[in-house]
Amino acid sequence: MSLQVQPLPGGIGAECRGLALDAPIPDEVREQLYQAWIDAGIIVFRNGATSPEQQLRLSRCFGELDVHPVKNLVTESDYPELMVLDSEDQARQMVLCRETDPDDHFMGYIPWHSDLIFTTTPNHGALLRAVVVPGQGGHTAWIDTIAAYDGLDEALKRDIEGLEVEYRFCNDLTRAKYGKDPHIHKVSGTTNFPEFPPVAQPMVWRHPVSGRKSLNISPLHLEAVVGMEEPDSHELLTNLVDHVTSRDFSYVHQWQPNDMVLWDNWRTLHSALGYPVGERRVVHRTTISGDVEMGRILAA
Ligand code: SIN
Repeated sequence: MSLQVQPLPGGIGAECRGLALDAPIPDEVREQLYQAWIDAGIIVFRNGATSPEQQLRLSRCFGELDVHPVKNLVTESDYPELMVLDSEDQARQMVLCRETDPDDHFMGYIPWHSDLIFTTTPNHGALLRAVVVPGQGGHTAWIDTIAAYDGLDEALKRDIEGLEVEYRFCNDLTRAKYGKDPHIHKVSGTTNFPEFPPVAQPMVWRHPVSGRKSLNISPLHLEAVVGMEEPDSHELLTNLVDHVTSRDFSYVHQWQPNDMVLWDNWRTLHSALGYPVGERRVVHRTTISGDVEMGRILAA
């Protein structure tokens, strides 16, 4: 069966069918997959891979693989490039609740972000595979920031061209300045992340492969517009965060075992929506390295 790539019904991302992962992937299929990734930004493979080897085989079609430097995650011992997101670790890292339901504890929640946006070499992409799916919740969502840029009005596009945004690594999501739900509170947990110097990134970013412009507003680590008075910066960023996170540009994946979702981190945000404490969830992740410098380091 030949490879078929079809846009997802909501218009964000695409679904890929007909991919055989039980044998080496021929060069022409690798090229088709790479182009689909660049064109759509988010690619869903339903019932895609049944083993770490198959996930790694697919991941290597998109570039060198990396070990994510931040998420203090366990790696699969036989496969150092495969990170394991396991509910048993996440329960130790951070348990949360909502003000309205203080006894309903949940975990695995990560607000909207693009990976490593607080560095000058964000990874180009990543691929998740669902291994154990919880009975409730555990969905992951993505936003296409090229579609979000295209959806801005022309006057605003002109106003923001040439602006820079400051990103600072936010090691406690309950303290994020933008993009967090103010009614979510920490119940327990500790994290032990390295420090990163603040960076300035272009607010409008041209994709190095496709040349298309994206709206580089990644809420979790967002701090300010570089060189703008705080009230003006806050007003502009609040409006842009509302715009980029509106449902118009997003896709939510409700996992089934062995589903995979690949994303282009240079043009998307993603968010893990969380799941109740007591549920079991295991996801395997591979990360595709970034080989392009983006932005600059700011004096701390
Ligand atoms: C991630 O951000 O890599 C994890 C997303 C998820 O757990 O759904």
